[in-house]
Amino acid sequence: MEGLQLIAVGGAEPSRVVTNDDLSKLVDTSDEWITTRTGIRQRYFCAEGEDTATLAVQAARQALERSGLQLAQIGCCVCATVSGVYAAPSTACLVQRELGLAQDIPVLDVNAACSGFIYGAAVARGLLAARPGDARRYALVIGSEQLSRMMDMTDRSTCVLFGDGAGAAVLELTPDAEFAVDLGARGDMAIEFPTGGPIRMDGRAVFRFAVDALPRTLHAVLNAAHRTLDEVDWVVCHQANSRIIDHCIKKLGADPAKFYKNMDRHGNTSAASIPVALYELQESGRLQPGMRIACIGFGGGLIWGGMLITVKGSAV
Ligand code: UT7
Repeated sequence: MEGLQLIAVGGAEPSRVVTNDDLSKLVDTSDEWITTRTGIRQRYFCAEGEDTATLAVQAARQALERSGLQLAQIGCCVCATVSGVYAAPSTACLVQRELGLAQDIPVLDVNAACSGFIYGAAVARGLLAARPGDARRYALVIGSEQLSRMMDMTDRSTCVLFGDGAGAAVLELTPDAEFAVDLGARGDMAIEFPTGGPIRMDGRAVFRFAVDALPRTLHAVLNAAHRTLDEVDWVVCHQANSRIIDHCIKKLGADPAKFYKNMDRHGNTSAASIPVALYELQESGRLQPGMRIACIGFGGGLIWGGMLITVKGSAV
């Protein structure tokens, strides 16, 4: 089966910055506790007029601009989210309407929580592959969340962890792409995102799951790609907690410099966290043509997913 390659990424930051000190005025917590336990220093919350769809539109528009492609070249649009304002129209349909994407292409949301971007890419690949005669070989895959509207701001065990944001990628389906995915799930209530909230989580249980799922999924996706970690340029993990990533680095004896981290500025943005990290790498000139990136998601479901993708030629 043909694989995906990364053409360009976009991102959207909500306008309200919320620091740990801000939260310590709402609940019994401290900057010291949050920073030491999670690595998070601040997060962004949506302000009036901003939501999952407006962030998704902004990120998608930017990804398209960076790609240099025309709207008419997009063959499907997938948005990964657990915080869409509507079950229908999907957030992806709202993006389609705002951007003016074609009407004869598949457009849908994917719910795989913090692994949503990886699942979204896998779904997009399948959708493009199912239309072999269609010249539109590019997918728009978005991760967008407004978790702030699903949080109990009196529950210190969750409200310090999550943030809002969006990232979007233009991906191309091509026969020459070096691409691999590994997906899995185990139904479990350790994290709950009830419709409308509030988010509930057994933090210790999820931590135990995450420190197992992250290295295991990285290993599986490298195996599927017939690559070693040394041959990968970046590992972009879901940004839930700095200690989870450090645990993985230690377990694998890996080079910490390969593992991108930005939870200090964004907190945990669920499906948005991986594409936001890719966007920051691109914007800071650290994505070069031909680079191999391993993206690893884990979280609510419980669900995990890994993807090895390469950066295309000269577009980024
Ligand atoms: O995106 C989905 C993936 N999610 C994750 O990967 C999250 C995984 N879990 C975690 O990252 C960690 O479990 C947390 C950061 C959520 C919690 O860290 P922890 O080291 O597991 O803390 P804990 O839940 O064991 O709580 C330790 C103490 C408790 O007090 P006692 O019982 O020892 O007196 C908590 O009540 O810390 C207390 N605590 C807090 N204290 C200050 C819990 N939340 C806070 C807080 N500020 N915000």
